[in-house]
Amino acid sequence: MESAKAPIISAFGAHIPVVAYGTMLFPEPERAVDLIVRSLECGYRHIDTARKYGSEQWVGEGIRASGLPREDIWVTTKVTEENAKADNFSRSVDTSLKTLGLDYVDLLLIHWPQPKVPLEETLGALAKARREGLAKNIGVSNFTVSLLDEAVDKCPAPLVTNQIEYHAYIRQDKVIAACRKHGMLVTCHVPLARGEVLKDPVIRKIAKAHGKTAAQVALKWLIQQPDVGVVPRALEFSEIEENIDIFDFELSQDEMNQISALRDKNVRIVSPEVRRPVWDVE
Ligand SMILES: NC(=O)c1ccc[n+]([C@@H]2O[C@H](COP(=O)([O-])OP(=O)(O)OC[C@H]3O[C@@H](n4cnc5c(N)ncnc54)[C@H](OP(=O)(O)O)[C@@H]3O)[C@@H](O)[C@H]2O)c1
Repeated sequence: MESAKAPIISAFGAHIPVVAYGTMLFPEPERAVDLIVRSLECGYRHIDTARKYGSEQWVGEGIRASGLPREDIWVTTKVTEENAKADNFSRSVDTSLKTLGLDYVDLLLIHWPQPKVPLEETLGALAKARREGLAKNIGVSNFTVSLLDEAVDKCPAPLVTNQIEYHAYIRQDKVIAACRKHGMLVTCHVPLARGEVLKDPVIRKIAKAHGKTAAQVALKWLIQQPDVGVVPRALEFSEIEENIDIFDFELSQDEMNQISALRDKNVRIVSPEVRRPVWDVE
């Protein structure tokens, strides 16, 4: 078992490992538990799950099978927009904890905004979970600038992060600036654009120069930005290891700029019609 590999980023007293292992679209149960154990063995200490993913049970089993102390692992889960009403929200949190087999999660997120329920009501339920010790920290996901401003204004407790789609093919300057204004971290989901950025000639050239892979450079470009964490998902053991082996090299400012310029491609991967808010225009 390797010790923890990823450095920590912090906001409002939350100290979060900068690389998380993502568990969306996860495989059959036997393999799923194995993948969680393997990710912990190679140094991940942050697992990202959600009620919607159906992976909470395998995350809990994997954590127990790893033999690591619970307090060494950061667990993030999320409540879906279908459960935005206060009663449903609390029930969803209880179900998540029961399914995970844990007493608390380290971070609980509102998965998507829900325009049909007053945001204040959902935030109240989110803050209640924190008050009751079911979640050590709270945050949001897929929130735009205006939603974030409203959430920070109305939430009775600090929101530590906004988990958003961010990778080398999408510009997210406005929402990132809003996170910084509010002292929040940015957590990047789909950081590899589901593999799209791995074919990019600019990223591949930079990767070759460092003796690293395109995935490692794409992730490094993200975490070299201040207060930014990443949640890649991989199912191959070699790729799981690769995605956290990114702390032995640095990108130059010129390399950072070259990759930043790719964002003009403006490829948004996660934008389900039934859930998406009106995204900020960059
Ligand atoms: N908050 C939200 O609304 C939200 C939305 C989407 C995702 N997420 C979170 O973000 C996580 C990651 O998102 P994602 O899985 O959709 O996208 P992703 O991490 O950008 O990409 C995953 C894809 O990249 C491939 N890959 C991963 N590492 C690789 C490597 N080192 N070399 C080559 N290929 C590699 C994977 O291949 P294999 O399939 O072969 O492993 C998979 O096809 C999710 O698991 C979830 O935890 C959150």
